[in-house]
Amino acid sequence: MNGDDRQTAPSDAGDRSAWTRDHASGLRRDDSNVAPVIYPAEKRVDDGLHIWDTWFLRERDGTIADVGGYRVIVALTASAELLPGKRHDVATLRYFYSEDGKRWETGGPVFDDEAFGSRQWAGSTVYDDGDVYCYYTAAGRARERALSYSQRIALAEGGRLTVGDDGPTIDGPWEHSILLEPDGEWYETEDQYRGMTYTFRDPWFFEDPASGETYLLFEANTPVSEGSDACGGDAGEQEFNGSVGIAHSPTGDPTAFELRPPLLDAVCVNQELERPHLVVRDGTYYLFVSSHVHTFAPGLEGYDALYGFVADGLRGDYEPLNGHGMVLTNPRGAPFQAYSWLAYDHGDELLATSFFNYHEYDRPTMDDVALLPESEQRRRFGGTLAPTVRLELDGAETRVVGALDHGHLPLPREKLPEPWWRRAGDERERP
Ligand code: FRU
Repeated sequence: MNGDDRQTAPSDAGDRSAWTRDHASGLRRDDSNVAPVIYPAEKRVDDGLHIWDTWFLRERDGTIADVGGYRVIVALTASAELLPGKRHDVATLRYFYSEDGKRWETGGPVFDDEAFGSRQWAGSTVYDDGDVYCYYTAAGRARERALSYSQRIALAEGGRLTVGDDGPTIDGPWEHSILLEPDGEWYETEDQYRGMTYTFRDPWFFEDPASGETYLLFEANTPVSEGSDACGGDAGEQEFNGSVGIAHSPTGDPTAFELRPPLLDAVCVNQELERPHLVVRDGTYYLFVSSHVHTFAPGLEGYDALYGFVADGLRGDYEPLNGHGMVLTNPRGAPFQAYSWLAYDHGDELLATSFFNYHEYDRPTMDDVALLPESEQRRRFGGTLAPTVRLELDGAETRVVGALDHGHLPLPREKLPEPWWRRAGDERERP
């Protein structure tokens, strides 16, 4: 990091956008942001696996890779025999592939060796002419005796993707390295946190179409020191300090990044801005994150939902979509039916995939899930891809307009079924 960059931050928050309490106090479920109710899938991606956070294999410029007629997704997975709540403790990256974006085949674990961390959490995967770069969160430490929650951003390089008669295969040997750790000034360290826990995870590779520059986005927290006057000095609210972090690769080398000040933070608002990612449409930058009802600061009512922000450049100034930020949430009667959304562009629509989380569960928090009999915890957990939600995106406004099947992930060039409101002769009022 050079001296010039240092001058722009860390205490100078002026160049980062903020999701404020004022914005978030407008959060409401309404017709424009509630997904249809999800029912169990006719066919799961893999009966033997719990599957949750999922992302596409993409080319450097963000195009979804189409390798020999296959699209590939990478997901966090664990054995379906495990109690769903235990899955985070053993998460393993696996890949899946599909020719039609509807039926998925399991490729297998991405890594054939020991990766960093006692388990691997979300990230992103880049395909470059046969080479595979896998950015992931190293959670905990390898071979630790007691599970720890340290988080570091890691890279596995050296992987190759080949397409044979049976479909694509990803193979090592991999070379693993730690790319980024929090610096304690822009990004909170494990030692600094005062609230729920710190976050430093979910690296997402991004090439800015405006400049061609290479970045990683990630989930983090902004340090707020004790006695700070942030949030009017309210120590309780100060514990909620989520941010969207960013690191830059000065040379475009996909293996070397330097921290930069966060793009956006939510100090006094929300603790976890998860899996940040961008969709750029005609020079407009849409920044998306997932967040939970329980990670909003006291006095704010939020939801397990996809949230979004819009700006006319990578560094902002980001404004919350729809005034408050919420783009897509679960129905009131099934508030935890889906989570960990990933939005991607599709012609004039936006598609949002996520995982099917807990159904038939309408409590206001997830705290009681663990009190259910184990058989019920298993029965009510989806553990596979959720139906893909279709959204209209018009400037700073979004609207849910329908859904595709569980795990149906069309490529941008594939035509979507014509929604009924576009069919001639249907007089009903459109959603
Ligand atoms: C979101 C998330 C990610 C993390 C993963 C761990 O669902 O919390 O931020 O990488 O789950 O399972």
